[in-house]
Amino acid sequence: MERQKLILDCDPGHDDAVAILLAGRAPGLELLGITVTAGNQTLEKTAQNALRVVQWLGLDTPVYAGCDRPLVRDKIVAGNIHGETGLDGPVFPSLERTLRPEHAVQYLIRTLLASEGDITVVTTGPMTNLAMALRLEPRIAEKIRRIVLMGGSYTNGNVTPAAEFNILADPEAAHICFSAGRPVSMIGLDVTRKVLCLPEIVERMARVNTGASRLFVDLMGHFCRTQKEVFGWDGAPLHDPVTVASLLDPDLVRFKPMNVRIDLRSEQSYGRTNCDYFGYLGLPATADVAVDIDVPRFWDIVEEALRRYE
Ligand code: RIB
Ligand code: CA
Repeated sequence: MERQKLILDCDPGHDDAVAILLAGRAPGLELLGITVTAGNQTLEKTAQNALRVVQWLGLDTPVYAGCDRPLVRDKIVAGNIHGETGLDGPVFPSLERTLRPEHAVQYLIRTLLASEGDITVVTTGPMTNLAMALRLEPRIAEKIRRIVLMGGSYTNGNVTPAAEFNILADPEAAHICFSAGRPVSMIGLDVTRKVLCLPEIVERMARVNTGASRLFVDLMGHFCRTQKEVFGWDGAPLHDPVTVASLLDPDLVRFKPMNVRIDLRSEQSYGRTNCDYFGYLGLPATADVAVDIDVPRFWDIVEEALRRYE
């Protein structure tokens, strides 16, 4: 089986950690590298969290730190959800892994330029690193097979009524990525809020009884509690792993081509992904937007991933 190459750009973050877990040993994927951006927490914390996760899982994937702030707007974090460390909950052993010295933006440019145009870039945090790479070296655009992002929504947001965190944290970066002229799969809240990690799901994954399942359970312990506190959910929506899962099973997520534009101008709706669901504007589609997901299949994919680790 030919393994699909991907770079995962993330801001760990509890759900980012599960996305790393899904990609790390997936038979059909080759995780070339993990690039990290500020987002759920400061870059210093998200980078350390990415290292903690690859160390816990025993992955050799290189980790590169990237941009520590958005392109234009002021920085925001999501400590109310992910805690002070950005990955509150699990008790990690002392960190031995270290970051690669190359900046994530330079890694993205170098790797994409040297590629055969067969790399999918998955982003599960603010899109700052990819946007910077596209501006620094526009030639990488033709080398990106597809951009698959967790972000946005064609309904409402989760930080403001209009905007979802990953887009709102750096709307200008999202605009650069959406307008790069490459295929885009936008997996937004409309679908990720359908995969709620309910107590019975946590119990199911705990029975897998591997190191990965123990990490999953410890992560969900915190993530589910804060999601309940903030949103009242009975289970945490497992946003980020849906990106990787959609690569593992092309039938998992149903997409609808839409014209998507990022609102950079308005005050109330700044950072909104304006998705023309019904084609009112008659403009060309700029993204494949996720509109539905096979929820039972998604949890099967998560369980299968947990079983791939000791
Ligand atoms: O809005 C959810 C997204 O914001 C997820 O990627 C979560 O990790 C945070 O980055
Ligand atoms: Ca994230």
